[in-house]
Amino acid sequence: MRKPVVLITGAGGEIGHGLIERLADDDRRRIVTLDVNPLEPPIARLVHREVVGSILDKGLLDRLLAEFEIDLVIHLAALLSTRSEFTPVTAHQVNVEGTLNLLEFAQREGESHGRPVVFVYPSSIAAYGLPDLDTKARAGRVREDQFATPTTMYGCNKLYCEQLGHYYARHYKQLAADPQTGRVDFRCVRFPGLISAVTVPSGGTSDYAPEMIHAAARGESYACFVRPDTRIPFMAMPDGVDALLALSAVPREALTKTAYNVGAFSPTADEVRAIVLESFPRADITWAVDAKRQGIVDSWPADVDDEAARRDWGFSPRYDFRRAFSEYLIPTIRKRYQVAAS
Ligand code: SER
Repeated sequence: MRKPVVLITGAGGEIGHGLIERLADDDRRRIVTLDVNPLEPPIARLVHREVVGSILDKGLLDRLLAEFEIDLVIHLAALLSTRSEFTPVTAHQVNVEGTLNLLEFAQREGESHGRPVVFVYPSSIAAYGLPDLDTKARAGRVREDQFATPTTMYGCNKLYCEQLGHYYARHYKQLAADPQTGRVDFRCVRFPGLISAVTVPSGGTSDYAPEMIHAAARGESYACFVRPDTRIPFMAMPDGVDALLALSAVPREALTKTAYNVGAFSPTADEVRAIVLESFPRADITWAVDAKRQGIVDSWPADVDDEAARRDWGFSPRYDFRRAFSEYLIPTIRKRYQVAAS
């Protein structure tokens, strides 16, 4: 029997990096990647086939469909929230039409090999939209069904694609004489801001935390674009990768939701600055608030209620705030930039 294949879109991005390293350890599945840019050589070496191209290229997706027997799609390709506000139409094309293409691809794949294709999708805290800071303070840990009124293009895209995935999983062509539902087994996490020690994000609005840490490690000054008291949830990248893999592997019957919150720690920007200074005491971190980007972060929850993920599929992050820095971020980042402890 042919080895099953996992298709990872947006594989060259931050999540893809960590995910490919983890998946490469498991030789039961071949990795096929799709990204508009070539992968970095150390990551490219870990994959069975690297395809450079766009999720908007349906001809390319048809060729992948013909060539591979894919039973898992991890669809990471997206434009993040800040970039999407500058190019909302492109954001809609990539984030929504691209996801629709991949869902159709998974549907066709499932119809062709007769097994459901597990489709793992990262949604985001951007799917929430709290109206003002008082409400945010009162709301505390937000449940999946609260405040689903995003204010950004990216948040709207993510929320709609959650629904689209649910449609493919449960109601696809429900009026057809021979409905083909159940071919796509859609599962989704709403990620908080993710912080990687090996890559720097681009185009997001939670980027201030990773930017602050990486700038300090490189010995560069950093002016943070949100207020010191700004609070949103974050997670260390290894826990984000684990969450995707755990969700992909759980039996369908265990799942009671389409989209699951996952959280780990929820520091203020000032608390991030303070913990960075513990390791890099000479770091020059100042504040230069960008009122517009601040408005976006203020509309995101201060924390998320992830009880459903813990209950249904055993989500349990390894890294709390202190451990994320002491055991993952600081040692890995020091190695990355070869910065001696000050
Ligand atoms: N990190 C993302 C962003 O800032 C949120 O999902 O856009």
